[in-house]
Amino acid sequence: MIIIWNMEEVYLLVTANYDKALALLLSWVVLSFLTKKIMRKSTDTIPGHLGLPLIGETFSFLSCANSTKGCYDFVRLRRLWHGNWFKTRLFGKVHVFVPSVVGAKTILTNEFKLFNKCLVKSMADAVGKKSLLCVPVESHKRIRRLLSGPFSMESLSEFVQKFDKLLCSRFKKLSEDGKSFVVLEFSMKISFDAMCEMLMSITDESLLAKIEQDSTAISSAMISIPVMIPGTRYYKGMKARERLMKLFEELIAGRRMGKENHDDFLQSMLERDSFPDDEKLDDTELMDNMLTLILAGQTTTAAAMMWSVKLLDENIEVQNMLREEQLMILRKKPRGDLLCLEDLNKMSYGLKVVKETLRMSNVLLWFPRVVTQDCKIQEFEIKKGWHVDVDATHIHYDPELYKNPLQFNPSRFDEIQKPYSYIPFGSGPRTCLGINMAKVTMLVFLHRLTSGYKWTVNDHDLSLEKKSHIPRLKSGVPITLTALKDES
Ligand code: HEM
Repeated sequence: MIIIWNMEEVYLLVTANYDKALALLLSWVVLSFLTKKIMRKSTDTIPGHLGLPLIGETFSFLSCANSTKGCYDFVRLRRLWHGNWFKTRLFGKVHVFVPSVVGAKTILTNEFKLFNKCLVKSMADAVGKKSLLCVPVESHKRIRRLLSGPFSMESLSEFVQKFDKLLCSRFKKLSEDGKSFVVLEFSMKISFDAMCEMLMSITDESLLAKIEQDSTAISSAMISIPVMIPGTRYYKGMKARERLMKLFEELIAGRRMGKENHDDFLQSMLERDSFPDDEKLDDTELMDNMLTLILAGQTTTAAAMMWSVKLLDENIEVQNMLREEQLMILRKKPRGDLLCLEDLNKMSYGLKVVKETLRMSNVLLWFPRVVTQDCKIQEFEIKKGWHVDVDATHIHYDPELYKNPLQFNPSRFDEIQKPYSYIPFGSGPRTCLGINMAKVTMLVFLHRLTSGYKWTVNDHDLSLEKKSHIPRLKSGVPITLTALKDES
């Protein structure tokens, strides 16, 4: 269970209970001495500090998560103290951070066998029991197979056009306004709207706003104490989930009665109503997974868009090369035509910019798994019940794998990467379902941004947003757009 407390609350709690805190401190010293002795026997091979059985290093983790350096700072510091492989204890569980390509391969190729995804209760309650993120292996295979169709590259051609249209009109309006706007707010809204249109053909502004408000409440409840006390994040999230499920139910009922007919994700799922059970989703599966897709797709893609703007601003040469490629594609198309998949296939440098952005931004910092039986990763003994975290961030910044890893250099992707050295979308049976959608969204975004505009960043602060498991700049990157043709 992940609870984010601010340090002030912890301080007040401690000062109000001074005697108890002293007793706790003494017990901690004795217990950590004993724990160290016991642990030394079984787990000495991986360095690290486990601390007390329940607490471990949870407070240090929360303190990093609550700082503008972000929660990866917790990992970074321990690497300095203990080396690349280290273990810690968070929220009562032993965690091993796995920093290597071999380790990533071992874990991601043994998905559902030696390792399993394990969501904290608040997260599982938020996405629902039938979500792809929660179901056991047999259901996972079927649900994933059925969901994958609409997310294949071929099926996304209509999405590309709709997203392009939305983007063109919003960029145009923003540049005409000439005012500064926050890229993260813009990208959160547009990726949400595009997703709702693709899934359920919802375009009505007031309905979109209502759904977004509820999804945001659900998203916040994902990291909270799972008790139904009115006023808490969890309570608000669960209530929002009830409302959203009711809305989905009404939408499905309306479609079945033939009130509306659309060519969208929902319709493609409902067309399977008369199919055998293993060839369709039941209504709960459908609703839980629509919500999962919205939650998994919006924040990730929006953060990646924000980082691309920031990284391109800091690397003007790359920006110019990208603009050159995109202008060439634009000039070959009839004026005003929307992009199609064929155009995206021509964006070879654009794709490298997307890849490099994802390598450097590490939207999902690490991928957690629980160990289902005692096993070995490389030479290290791993115990059943421990958690292993595939540290994609460390792999993406490993100088052995990427020369000058801190440099934003899309051309490094001229060379083919070693297996498991580039894993921003994970790998194996749980590879990101939205990988194609994320890539086309990013390409269309970069095309319209660089072929239509130049921009200035109005806040260069590098502080990260607090309490976020996805690294995002606190400023959200405010920019002002200038249309290229208007440039003097
Ligand atoms: C830049 C954008 C994105 C990034 C970096 C990203 C990254 C990832 C990663 C790393 C995983 C695997 C996590 C693990 O192994 O624990 C994953 C899973 C997933 N992603 Fe994405 N994602 C992105 C966009 C999307 C979009 C747009 C959608 C939906 C349309 C989506 C839906 C999902 C789903 C449903 C899963 C779970 C798959 C499963 O468990 O079988 N993602 N994503």
